[in-house]
Amino acid sequence: MWSGTPLFPEQASTMAGRVDALYFFLLAISVFFSLLIAGLIVFYAIRYRRRDPMSVGEVIHEAMALEITWTVIPFIISMVIFVWGASVYVAISRPPDDTLNIYVVGKQWMWKFQHLDGQREINELHVPVGRPVKLIMTSEDVIHDVFVPAFRVKADVIPGRYTNLWFQPTKPGRYRLFCAEYCGTRHSGMTGEVIVMEPSEFQAWLSGGALEGSLASAGAKLFNDLACNTCHRPDAKGRGPVLDGLFGNTVKLQNGEIMTVDEAYVRESILNPSAKVTAGFQPIMPTFQGLVTEEQLLELIEYVKSLKALPPAQASQTR
Ligand code: CUA
Repeated sequence: MWSGTPLFPEQASTMAGRVDALYFFLLAISVFFSLLIAGLIVFYAIRYRRRDPMSVGEVIHEAMALEITWTVIPFIISMVIFVWGASVYVAISRPPDDTLNIYVVGKQWMWKFQHLDGQREINELHVPVGRPVKLIMTSEDVIHDVFVPAFRVKADVIPGRYTNLWFQPTKPGRYRLFCAEYCGTRHSGMTGEVIVMEPSEFQAWLSGGALEGSLASAGAKLFNDLACNTCHRPDAKGRGPVLDGLFGNTVKLQNGEIMTVDEAYVRESILNPSAKVTAGFQPIMPTFQGLVTEEQLLELIEYVKSLKALPPAQASQTR
């Protein structure tokens, strides 16, 4: 409804309408009560002004009905705001299961995007319309923040961590992407564009350009180059844990703690291997801090994700 107004960004994701509805509700409540209170102040100031310099105010005793009313109405309104706000918050922070995953690395002062098929782009992100997209994001240096106003989504991009952001674009077009966290001299220039395409066009775009192979295959190559495969073997005879089928599952650590294997855990295990050692193994793995870039870490993570559990007989033949 506001798309023609330059004051208000276009609505181009499934979340945009929900965020705006909540926003306008809050705005309407604030405007209504501000006007009501300001109006009553003026009205009563005139209506009950002191007409006689000697007059004394009347003492008012309890008015139970009135007090209950002005307690219950704000309570109901604030509960509506809470439940509504929480439902939108949960929807924004929980991506659906079948997302198209894209990695994002922020650095002073550019955005790098990596598609799982191997396509890379800088300050431009191509996505298909109608499909939920999840960005898995990290930073090479300082905190940045991805903000796409037309999608009404925004999330910090933090060095040493992976944060997520998801959206489902509803119409093709080009939408501005901003960095929304002050990150240095050229922060204001750290912008980009999200290009939403029809699925068929997106497929064509994805298969065009330099084919470097998928992220997982680049990870597999790196896994061999760094000699990770000498210890992490698929047959449980290696000095390190078997990685097949590991991602998304839980592992038991030496201290008895149970961890879910996610991007952050794999990352930490590569950069600081002795931090969380799997039960039954020795902390003998060297650190790869400084030896792998953020992009290479993503390749390795994607490789570990791609390793599905195989029956033992097959496993020994695959690598
Ligand atoms: Cu990156 Cu501001």
